[in-house]
Amino acid sequence: MGYRLTLEYLIWIHLLISVINLVYFVECTLPTFNSDAILNASGSSCHVLSFSDKNVADEITYVLQNLSDLSFRDEPTVIVGKISPQIDVHSFWPDSSPLTVHKGIKKETINQSIFIIGRLRKDRTCLLLPHKRLAVPSAVQIDIFPKAKQKHKFNLSAISLKIVNEINEKCNTFRNVDGSINIKGLHRNEILENLYHIPSKSNQNTENDDMFPSSFSFNHEQSQCVMADKTGDNVNCQVKYVEEQYDYCERISVPSQNHFFHEYLSLSKPVIVTGAITKWIALKKWTKSFLKEKYGKTRVHVKATPNGEYEGVQDKSLWERYKHPHIPKQVEDQLPYPDLVVERPASLDMLFSEFLDLIENISRGNTANMSAYLEYSSIADYFPELKSDIKELEFINMLELASLNIWLSDGNTLGKLHFDPFDNLLCQISGEKHVTLFEPHHNERLYEGHIQEAQFTFNESTGFFHRRHLLDSTSMVMSPVDLKKPDLERFPLFADTRPMKCSIKEGEVLFMPAFWWHEVQSTPNISQHRNLAVNFWYKPFLTKEFPCPECKLDVNPQYYNLL
Ligand SMILES: *[C@@H]1O[C@H](CO)[C@@H](O)[C@H](O)[C@H]1NC(C)=O
Ligand SMILES: *[C@@H]1O[C@H](CO)[C@@H](O)[C@H](O)[C@H]1NC(C)=O
Ligand SMILES: *[C@@H]1O[C@H](CO)[C@@H](O)[C@H](O)[C@H]1NC(C)=O
Ligand SMILES: *[C@@H]1O[C@H](CO)[C@@H](O)[C@H](O)[C@H]1NC(C)=O
Ligand SMILES: *[C@@H]1O[C@H](CO)[C@@H](O)[C@H](O)[C@H]1NC(C)=O
Ligand SMILES: *[C@@H]1O[C@H](CO)[C@@H](O)[C@H](O)[C@H]1NC(C)=O
Ligand SMILES: *[C@@H]1O[C@H](CO)[C@@H](O)[C@H](O)[C@H]1NC(C)=O
Ligand SMILES: *[C@@H]1O[C@H](CO)[C@@H](O)[C@H](O)[C@H]1NC(C)=O
Repeated sequence: MGYRLTLEYLIWIHLLISVINLVYFVECTLPTFNSDAILNASGSSCHVLSFSDKNVADEITYVLQNLSDLSFRDEPTVIVGKISPQIDVHSFWPDSSPLTVHKGIKKETINQSIFIIGRLRKDRTCLLLPHKRLAVPSAVQIDIFPKAKQKHKFNLSAISLKIVNEINEKCNTFRNVDGSINIKGLHRNEILENLYHIPSKSNQNTENDDMFPSSFSFNHEQSQCVMADKTGDNVNCQVKYVEEQYDYCERISVPSQNHFFHEYLSLSKPVIVTGAITKWIALKKWTKSFLKEKYGKTRVHVKATPNGEYEGVQDKSLWERYKHPHIPKQVEDQLPYPDLVVERPASLDMLFSEFLDLIENISRGNTANMSAYLEYSSIADYFPELKSDIKELEFINMLELASLNIWLSDGNTLGKLHFDPFDNLLCQISGEKHVTLFEPHHNERLYEGHIQEAQFTFNESTGFFHRRHLLDSTSMVMSPVDLKKPDLERFPLFADTRPMKCSIKEGEVLFMPAFWWHEVQSTPNISQHRNLAVNFWYKPFLTKEFPCPECKLDVNPQYYNLL
């Protein structure tokens, strides 16, 4: 009897210890967060949390524990824990604003839900801080027992799988329940490990040159000076690259979707495609007389500069009113190059027929010291009927089209070094474009950052351009390095880059992946006195935050279905 009693007693003690252990386990291994801490970490991490409450179902704690110890144990961007009991969902954040939940919060099930609070992307575009409202991340609420009656049928495996998938989606992670990387994640890693880099030049002839320890050097004997522009004494000495310093773009005939995806798009590798648009009706049909007849009376916004350079970076002091910066001090203080400005072209409004005459006059040399460009103008907005003369290219149709533009100029234009956050198909219709590219892995060497803008003004009665006013905006995509005369004292890392050259002729297409830096020298078709191209911009397959030199390319979550 006494023996039995002792045994029962021991069993009870054992059970009690287990329960205590369990409680201890549950209470102590999941950290508790207040909203300050969540907000602090939200720049780099996602949070997976439940309201910390005595009534909270143990099952939720098990699930969270499992996410923390197993599924996301190796994932620093996912933080698992509980929300401090002092915090209410209705005045959640430090400024007492509520937790915002996708599709609205379900109040009845707050205590039986897991909340996934996403990352808060830093707003890199706006330098004007602090914002009026506190920026906070949004959440997803997942009810662990969607049907209360089924609570007794709780299935840990099923619920874990569901939550892990929800976290993967909201937090851009790629985990299986057991913590391993899932198939899509493996594909993504493979893509990111194999991105295309311009091969460095074999340096067999170069002596140790400590000043420019790079593949990039200048041959100053070959320097040539270009004509001064009308606004003053700004003489640019053009430095030619020694030919062998370039890498050259590969040329291929029209690829299959699969080939294009695996060999170019997913590698972020530029390529010239021949034969893709040679049958376009546009190539023959879009003559000056056709365009004039059809759209002559359309009003267009045209860009103009005195010297053919578009969006070059210049000393602010060339501007008459540079001492009136037009930009809040707080913003100016954050500019990495406060003494530089991006020169935006003057903006002119005219009939399309006048523009067509103007560019022909310029191209023929009859209108001096002026360049005119109809730049990134939407075909759908300006010339809707022209869409039927061109065809979208099939090899890229896994991407979503963002815009379709026309580019028409006198043909002697230089679009200065910048990047676009879109995958680009540049299709040449008349004239040629000579594109100098630098890879998006070298953003530090190209000094990515905000640069204040300024705009030329054009006096129509005198035909002179003036550098007068600075603008209150900044550009986020221009490099401050002038390719023609790089200031290597100021931008020494630039010496460590190697350019790629991609030249396209009529009927050729350049695939330029998003975020590749490019400078575009156009040349005219001399019998047509113009340069004409159209381009397709797609939401990029590989994307990055910008401006942010240290940010790396990653697969755009929009295209996880392609992994
Ligand atoms: C959040 O960050 C701020 C500023 O860095 C700091 O003062 C504060 O203590 C942090 N709060 C928590 C809860 O970590
Ligand atoms: C995690 O869940 C699995 C079932 O999916 C279970 O076997 C395991 O014990 C759990 N692990 C932890 C650490 O809770
Ligand atoms: C959630 O738990 C809190 C704290 O115990 C309680 O006040 C509240 O009524 C619960 N909410 C629901 C919907 O059960
Ligand atoms: C729990 O869910 C898993 C995954 O959905 C399923 O394979 C398993 O049969 C379920 N178990 C029970 C007891 O329903
Ligand atoms: C064009 O600019 C150059 C250099 O400023 C000047 O010498 C020339 O006279 C200008 N030509 C005309 C037609 O204005
Ligand atoms: C183009 O040149 C012709 C001949 O010099 C002139 O009559 C015409 O006004 C010019 N048109 C434009 C738009 O510059
Ligand atoms: C254009 O130049 C003329 C002559 O110098 C001047 O009278 C006029 O005010 C200028 N127009 C503008 C808009 O600056
Ligand atoms: C210039 O355009 C004409 C007319 O379309 C064309 O026949 C010719 O081949 C083009 N020139 C070059 C160099 O492409």
